[in-house]
Amino acid sequence: MKGKPLVSIVSAGLSKFGKLEGFYAREIFAEAAKEAFDRCPNLNPKRDIQALFVGHMGESYEHQGHTGATMADWAGLLYVSATRTEAACASSGAALRAGIYAVLSGLCDVVMVGGVEKMTHRTTPEVTEYLAMASDYPFEQWHGITFPGLFALMATAHMHKYGTTEQHLAMVSVKNHYHGSLNPKAHMQKEITLETALSSRVIAWPLKLFDCSLITDGASCLILTKPENAKKYTDMPVHIIGSGQASDTIGMYERESFTSLAAAKLAARKAYEMANLKPEDVNVAEVHDCFTIAEIIAYEDLGLCKPGEGGHLIEKDETKLGRRIPVNTSGGLKSKGHPVGATGTAQAYEMYLQLTGQAEKRQVKNAEVGLTHNVGGSGATATVHIYRRG
Ligand SMILES: CC(C)(COP(=O)(O)OP(=O)(O)OC[C@H]1O[C@@H](n2cnc3c(N)ncnc32)[C@H](O)[C@@H]1OP(=O)(O)O)[C@@H](O)C(=O)NCCC(=O)NCCS
Repeated sequence: MKGKPLVSIVSAGLSKFGKLEGFYAREIFAEAAKEAFDRCPNLNPKRDIQALFVGHMGESYEHQGHTGATMADWAGLLYVSATRTEAACASSGAALRAGIYAVLSGLCDVVMVGGVEKMTHRTTPEVTEYLAMASDYPFEQWHGITFPGLFALMATAHMHKYGTTEQHLAMVSVKNHYHGSLNPKAHMQKEITLETALSSRVIAWPLKLFDCSLITDGASCLILTKPENAKKYTDMPVHIIGSGQASDTIGMYERESFTSLAAAKLAARKAYEMANLKPEDVNVAEVHDCFTIAEIIAYEDLGLCKPGEGGHLIEKDETKLGRRIPVNTSGGLKSKGHPVGATGTAQAYEMYLQLTGQAEKRQVKNAEVGLTHNVGGSGATATVHIYRRG
């Protein structure tokens, strides 16, 4: 017996992802909100939506904080209760959790959750510095290590312990670029070869250019309501049946393992228990591939394979569209892009499309159960959500 719905998604929106020159974050969020409103004509946004939770990681990009009120204003939700959530790259995974709390508590009937980031107008060194603020200041940032460096440490530990190779990492990139080539909203819509990935320049060994997620502009949102009200708004709701969030030490140096994220494992366990499901019940997943090694570790932390077997899973092509458990059908952070604050609810947007049969060229046949895995920083925050077709 699958878990009972906590809340239902009745609509969702996603802006185009990419270099959105000449636009502010607020305009990009308004684009995502408009899609969500257009998809749901039975909803009167100003009347029905009682709260907005919006994930946003960095005010440094636009010198603009106070994101909750800013996005409410530009989405046409003036006067609504509006709050920003911040948990690094899991900021909108946290917004989704906050929306679930609001609906489950009975305080709100209908809420919007989402996320936004505008990054590409800044130089790569500036972006790298802003992102690094989500790592430990005295022991990591101060010594000059950045996110590619931290994930390179995980990659070398995984290679040493389990025999994972640079080819395995590159295979994740090739798969996600293939999926991204099928997604008209993806930042990079081009297929690549294994050779392209392997011969790209080294960023932090063993991670090369094509092992890194993209610096991207974008926004995403969902409209949530109580399951008993869902049919008022749509004939095709998607139910959230499991939700887990956990944290870990901010500094990576204090962790027991470099080859697994404790917060992600804990969040996944909570979500599976709540949903009364096992990893083998999942038909489609979006995982946090901020670097290719992170996708391999995610396979293991989520129980899609045993610890240490992530490299073999990708080698056997098991996570490609049409195979046993398609992962990152949207293109993932690698190819769709990673506007950090928007990523968590962008993953949920892909689940909404997949479970309502609207994913077009990248549709997973008969998808009934989906999962999203959103990680903040090097793993000090993780959220996992499980979804079921309504
Ligand atoms: C990898 C990275 C450093 C490359 O940045 P860069 O060296 O400044 O590269 P540029 O922006 O100058 O782009 C140069 C070329 O590489 C391409 N490119 C940039 N990043 C890319 C990526 N991650 N994957 C593939 N191609 C990429 C650009 O499209 C551009 O191609 P073009 O010359 O055909 O137009 C940057 O993408 C990065 O920092 N990514 C990780 C972001 C991150 O840490 N996110 C948070 C995770 S926790």
